[in-house]
Amino acid sequence: MNDFSRLDAITVEQLRAAGSTKWTTHPDTIGAWIAEMDFGIAEPITSALHEVVDQARFGYNPPSLVADLGRAYAEFSARRYGLGPDPEMVRPLPDVLAGMAAIIDHYTPAGSAVIVPTPAYMPFLLLPDWWGDREVIQVPMARDGDRWVYDLDAIGAAFDAGAHLLTLCNPHNPIGRVLTREEMLAIADVVEAKGGLVFSDEIHAPLVYPGSQHVPYASLDERTAAHTITATSASKSFNLAGLKCAQIVFSNPEHRATWAKAGRWVEQGVSLPGIVANITAYREGDPWLLETLAYLDRNRKALTGLVADKLPGVRYSEPEGTYLALLDFRETGLGDNPAAVFQEEVKVVLTPGPACGEAGRGFARLNFGTPLPVLEEIIDRIGRVLAARA
Ligand SMILES: Cc1ncc(COP(=O)(O)O)c(C=O)c1O
Repeated sequence: MNDFSRLDAITVEQLRAAGSTKWTTHPDTIGAWIAEMDFGIAEPITSALHEVVDQARFGYNPPSLVADLGRAYAEFSARRYGLGPDPEMVRPLPDVLAGMAAIIDHYTPAGSAVIVPTPAYMPFLLLPDWWGDREVIQVPMARDGDRWVYDLDAIGAAFDAGAHLLTLCNPHNPIGRVLTREEMLAIADVVEAKGGLVFSDEIHAPLVYPGSQHVPYASLDERTAAHTITATSASKSFNLAGLKCAQIVFSNPEHRATWAKAGRWVEQGVSLPGIVANITAYREGDPWLLETLAYLDRNRKALTGLVADKLPGVRYSEPEGTYLALLDFRETGLGDNPAAVFQEEVKVVLTPGPACGEAGRGFARLNFGTPLPVLEEIIDRIGRVLAARA
């Protein structure tokens, strides 16, 4: 039996005092937006970072440490996903978005568009234009009953319209889906037919609930290995985003060879404490991760009851991975951006659905990586908004 009392007891006052972005950007609100969790970090990571400080390890990144990051990730991947890459094919990134920018720069034809299935992680829609003056082709996902699924015909049409890069996000922020092997093979057929490249963002891969299994897209077969560049990090699952370390994982030797030059300055942005923290997370973080996942699993299930009891007309399906839930408010009469109404009226901050693309209108993204009593307060407050309009 898990004892959740320690995490249940964390208070809003403590969270504000700890000073995260989620809890300090909008004063006096309850933060449920940016993807930070409220559970601190794993003790082995704290110890490893103390050692970095005590030994004043603030110089440049030694090649041996970078090589160790590749090994630690490969071991973690083998343990959790059943298959680890060759450590030589893993290189450090400051963060996953720096990986996306580098892929656009060095692995796609000049001027080609980028396909972003929507609803999407918000920066996917902005970065290609801001960084590379590239067009984004939004492809709304389709519905299969209560599930979101990729619209393969529309993705094919987007390739035909001049795109080269398909952005995959698995597990998916914000919809919480974990793709099945069959779904990914069907996507691979389209990418192969069109000669495209996949940027596979697997940053949430450690955060998958019982009933689903993360399968790295590039590991499916020779085709996906050849047409994919993957990025991941311990940053979301172990709360390390500010330490600036992620991983780019190559599965095509030609892509890896290009990185020798293309990645040189990108890799300069990686921090040494971040590398140490990622290595420690991958090698010693399993107990903390399992405890955190169990807590999040309880929250995602509790949310089903809370939505049913307190949010009439709102639709929610339990995510298969991530600590993010995309709530569907379209039948509540709150308009395109319900998150703006909640922030204004009851001081709860969610991520606006429209920031996730056209397909996000009428939705809001809720971060349930928070103590259950705080989650209950969030839903109570949203419930008051709905009750006032009933
Ligand atoms: C799907 C996804 N990709 C990338 C990021 C950002 O990661 P990074 O800080 O490593 O760029 C996030 C952050 O929430 C995310 O959810």
